[in-house]
Amino acid sequence: MAEKILTRNFHLPGSHTLALYRETGGYAGLEKALAMKPAEITEAVKRSNLRGLGGAGFPTGVKWGFLPKGHPGPIYLVINADEGEPGTFKDRYLLEKDPHALLEGMIISAYAIGAHVAFVYIRGEYVQPWRIFSRAVAEAYEAGLLGKNIGSSGFDLDVIVHRGAGAYICGEETGLISSLEGKKGWPKLKPPFPAIRGAFGAPTIVNNVETICHVPHIVRRGAEWFASLGTKTQGGTRLYSVSGHVERPGVYELPVSVTLRELVYEHAGGVPHGKRLKAVVPGGSSAALLTADEIDVTLDVDGLRNAGTMAGSAGVIVMDETVSIPEALMVVARFYAHESCGQCTPCRESTGWIYKMTRRIIEGRGRKEDLDTILDVARRGAGTTICAFFDGAVGPYISYIEKFRHEFEALISK
Ligand SMILES: Cc1cc2nc3c(=O)[nH]c(=O)nc-3n(C[C@H](O)[C@H](O)[C@H](O)COP(=O)(O)O)c2cc1C
Repeated sequence: MAEKILTRNFHLPGSHTLALYRETGGYAGLEKALAMKPAEITEAVKRSNLRGLGGAGFPTGVKWGFLPKGHPGPIYLVINADEGEPGTFKDRYLLEKDPHALLEGMIISAYAIGAHVAFVYIRGEYVQPWRIFSRAVAEAYEAGLLGKNIGSSGFDLDVIVHRGAGAYICGEETGLISSLEGKKGWPKLKPPFPAIRGAFGAPTIVNNVETICHVPHIVRRGAEWFASLGTKTQGGTRLYSVSGHVERPGVYELPVSVTLRELVYEHAGGVPHGKRLKAVVPGGSSAALLTADEIDVTLDVDGLRNAGTMAGSAGVIVMDETVSIPEALMVVARFYAHESCGQCTPCRESTGWIYKMTRRIIEGRGRKEDLDTILDVARRGAGTTICAFFDGAVGPYISYIEKFRHEFEALISK
């Protein structure tokens, strides 16, 4: 059995309280970190091979290293708790079951990057996680873990919890920053990257909840230990949200070197009712689909990239033989058409067209040319927009059709 790190306390009653967190070794990483130089922490995070767990998989320590050196003004840390990617529900558990782990990670990370204000942007629908996390913030202030002169170290940090209002695009880091600033949640062109010009015009590091929850463990147990848990290019464990046709859906913490087959069959119990596996989405709805023959891949960022898909947010959606892939694509296409922010023409128009085409195929009004039109519109739009939203939609559009074209054609020729 692989060691549980982030989920080790999930089963304990009161796991969300400061008392239990401390009893189980919580805030020991902070004590150690505050005795280190900030640059030493960034170096350790680099050596640990921690990769961002929100979607893009970018190396965390490298991102921190992009901040301007000796910046005279404020630097911000922003935690992305928007968790909007369909099929993903792991940050919610971290916020509900172990909010102090995130807080400890935030304090250490803010100390490392020189931030004295940190924001947590929580998905609006996450009412219970927001309540629990806000209570933990209040507890931390009372215990002197936040505010002025934390642990008599001379380091100050304030945490501001901000609720979103139900827009998927506000999970994209520059859209999130716009929303945090009180503006419409529209993404911005990069560069400049947020590390240079982010929230309120200041250098800003945006990291996912789970990414930051790993930081105290890296500090406490060492970068080499963390790196050794994963693959050559990605350290640690991560939380896989498994849903769909499996015996035991849920959140599984496993080393990133686990294979998709092991996750689905050994951990999640396989496909119920003796049905055959048809396909798996390995990294949230924006990841390209893998067929049942393609699941002998490791679930790290590079393993899935080499398999032509992506690790994304590790939302694993399992489909058995009863699933109609055209219907599944229509549901996904409806989501992207609804959530496009409308700023870029290729995204705004193409997501709408593609949804209409998938819908008419399902309703028996499909035209022979529809499939090639969808593929053409998807390929032409990829890489032409301000943010990666449309590129994310292209993954499912193309892979569902290319891998299951016969199912679409059967509906069109009916
Ligand atoms: C359309 C879109 C939605 C996104 N939604 C989320 C999200 O809900 N949560 C998240 O952590 N990252 C999300 N991301 C990725 C963020 O832009 C960013 O890469 C991430 O928060 C950085 O943190 P990390 O390096 O720790 O992964 C999204 C990206 C895109 C393009």
